[in-house]
Amino acid sequence: MPERESQIESNPNEIERTDKEYVFGTWSYQKEVSPTQIVDADGSRFTTADGNEYIDCSSQLMCSNLGHSAERVVDAIEEQVQKTAYVAPNYTTESRAKLGKKLAEVTPGDLSKTFFSTSGTEAVEAAIKIARFYTGKQKIISRYRSYHGATYGSISVTGDPRRLASEPGIPGTIKAPDPYAYGSTLDPMESVEYIDEMLELEGDTVAAILVEPIVGSNGILVPPNEYLPRLTEIAHDHGALLICDEVMTGFGRTGEWFGCDVFDVEPDIMTMAKGLTGAYQPLGATIVNSELAEHFEENMFCHGHTYAGHPTAVAASLAAIETYQEENLIERASEVGEYLGDRIDELAEKHPSVGDTRGVGLFRGIELTKHPEMRVPFGERDDKISAGTTIVDEVSATASDNGVYVANMINTLIIAPPLTITENEIDTAMEAIDVALDVSDDAMSTD
Ligand SMILES: Cc1ncc(COP(=O)(O)O)c(C=O)c1O
Repeated sequence: MPERESQIESNPNEIERTDKEYVFGTWSYQKEVSPTQIVDADGSRFTTADGNEYIDCSSQLMCSNLGHSAERVVDAIEEQVQKTAYVAPNYTTESRAKLGKKLAEVTPGDLSKTFFSTSGTEAVEAAIKIARFYTGKQKIISRYRSYHGATYGSISVTGDPRRLASEPGIPGTIKAPDPYAYGSTLDPMESVEYIDEMLELEGDTVAAILVEPIVGSNGILVPPNEYLPRLTEIAHDHGALLICDEVMTGFGRTGEWFGCDVFDVEPDIMTMAKGLTGAYQPLGATIVNSELAEHFEENMFCHGHTYAGHPTAVAASLAAIETYQEENLIERASEVGEYLGDRIDELAEKHPSVGDTRGVGLFRGIELTKHPEMRVPFGERDDKISAGTTIVDEVSATASDNGVYVANMINTLIIAPPLTITENEIDTAMEAIDVALDVSDDAMSTD
């Protein structure tokens, strides 16, 4: 293996230079974009063009839940594309029908009818429209520390600063405080009562409350057990629907099928993507309960896409769900997740710059701090939309220099490996993160 090239000072190859010149990097100042070419991936690892191998500790973008070599899913895609690469949404395929039924089985409660799209963003767009069509009301309450997608509706309900450049966005979106015990002035259960008051003061105009059951890209925020049940009660008491955005938390990530299962909550609408196909195909899904489904028997379901229920995407998803089930990957995520949590706690003991550790299953966050008593973050919310790198970026880059890919968002390292990761691979990953955390320890305030 050649000497590992530092992520901090990379030397791009021809493909990487061409890509940088002709393709937009997402959510970035283009002068700072430096794509790394991946040439191979296997299990929980991937290899870059310079021959370096990495453990994928964030499942790429928290989506490759099955790892990078799920044969059954690959075969299903190949078989479908050979048979029929595409059918219009007014036709169907065996996989689409079976997947609809399967999703009704694995999702909680009475969720039963699905609209298919091609991304998490589109799944959220559909959820917003469905909630408005059904209730006849317009407003959507979501929270500040959230991400729900990139298009106008979904970015308008997003709380994180990536929303700001697209404002004013769609009308009728309201932001609420978050259950963020480490970084917010409100206690999580106070924040939920605040939402109760918001609904009271808005009168009967709120169609839905939209939340990630466990906040993902805004820092892996796990609410107290009573939070989500209370939020459901508050929504329903005020005639609003509960939408759970399970795009990141779905399909075993938390050690349960869905994030809302961790809290025994049954939403009225649920959105899914990412783990829905294990990222083998782009697919989004919005599932609704039978009462909402029934509403559209006599009212137009005024929504659709050319690729709604794309044959290869639904075939991949059906095979992905069969893989989760037959390989017991949900239970596995829970067990291996306990091990991961213990290893992360050991790092927290050792490194003073670890301010907080949070998470369940294989969905874990390490929040960094310059000053533990004052809880001063290294990365601020505005850094998400500013040029330059933070200490948190440097910690990730150092982990990468040591063979481990770990995503970071604002002030938190996101540890969310494939559900297939082994304990040995977790050990190797933790060793690299251990070295990387010396960077933040060294950068702590001394006063
Ligand atoms: C909770 C949540 N909702 C929606 C989205 C948007 O999904 P996509 O990027 O597939 O459009 C994301 C993406 O990270 C997400 O984490």
